[in-house]
Amino acid sequence: MSARTTAAGSPDGVRPGIPGVGGSRPAGLGHGVGLRRDHFERVLSGPTRIDWFEVISENFMVDGGRPLDVLTKVRGNYPVVLHGVSLSIGSTDPLDEEYLGRLGDLARRVEPAWVSDHLCWTSIGGHHAHDLLPLPYTSEALDNVVARVARVQEWLGRPIALENVSSYVAHRSSEMTEWEFLAEVARRSGCGILLDVNNIYVSARNHRFDPRAYLAGIPPAAVWQFHLAGHSDKGSFLLDTHDHPVADAVWDLYRDAVRRFGPASTLIEWDDRIPPFERLEEESERARALKDATLAESAAPARDAAASTPVAR
Ligand SMILES: [Fe+2]
Repeated sequence: MSARTTAAGSPDGVRPGIPGVGGSRPAGLGHGVGLRRDHFERVLSGPTRIDWFEVISENFMVDGGRPLDVLTKVRGNYPVVLHGVSLSIGSTDPLDEEYLGRLGDLARRVEPAWVSDHLCWTSIGGHHAHDLLPLPYTSEALDNVVARVARVQEWLGRPIALENVSSYVAHRSSEMTEWEFLAEVARRSGCGILLDVNNIYVSARNHRFDPRAYLAGIPPAAVWQFHLAGHSDKGSFLLDTHDHPVADAVWDLYRDAVRRFGPASTLIEWDDRIPPFERLEEESERARALKDATLAESAAPARDAAASTPVAR
């Protein structure tokens, strides 16, 4: 796809020579949904109301077969983002070079708009958890993540974006907030941020922080993408289930995110109890309408001010 870019700050600690790292961020792709097996036939059958697709990288890190064939065809018609769950960027285990090799192969094949994974750890001592576990937000963990992001970006030859995870526990050893940690990772490594608005809302309720303080702590130039998803209210906590429509409170937070970060690429995540594709299109169109209305509202005062500015004669 075309490599349209916009100017952004030049963070320190960035290794030179990787396109997109440390000096630019990708242009917005518009409104996307996850490409799921249930919808392969529908997506291949003709036009959709979707601008781009996100795929779970690990589902396509294979030598052949129908899913890879479908992805290749979809990529012929749409931008695609590779979204992984196994990078374990916060672990102290060595980076898995076999995994990175297969991810690199897939990226060369698909030429995604970008590659993303999560700011978390999923393995320790060679044992893999199936959860995306939160990190202790310490300067030591920060140094570790920044160094590993640099090595992954160097390995892949392209920048990556990291997503904030939802969480249910926190580390007493944390020295800073999650948003301070995430902002520093982006500033020092040059990676992008995939800001999951639902995850912010879920974690804010679970840990009793202000979700709008989170948004205010993230540098706008670093945000490449938003995730929107549904969660489940378990009474004493919220659970990030991706099996519901986006909640009204998350739509409200998305409006604030668009005000701060502009029209970054937006993706609807719906991974369980997956509805018909048309329902996903509706949810994506709701995001588009809300974004457009929010941007129009934001532009109106500036237009009014310009129109009323006295002209020197
Ligand atoms: Fe997400």
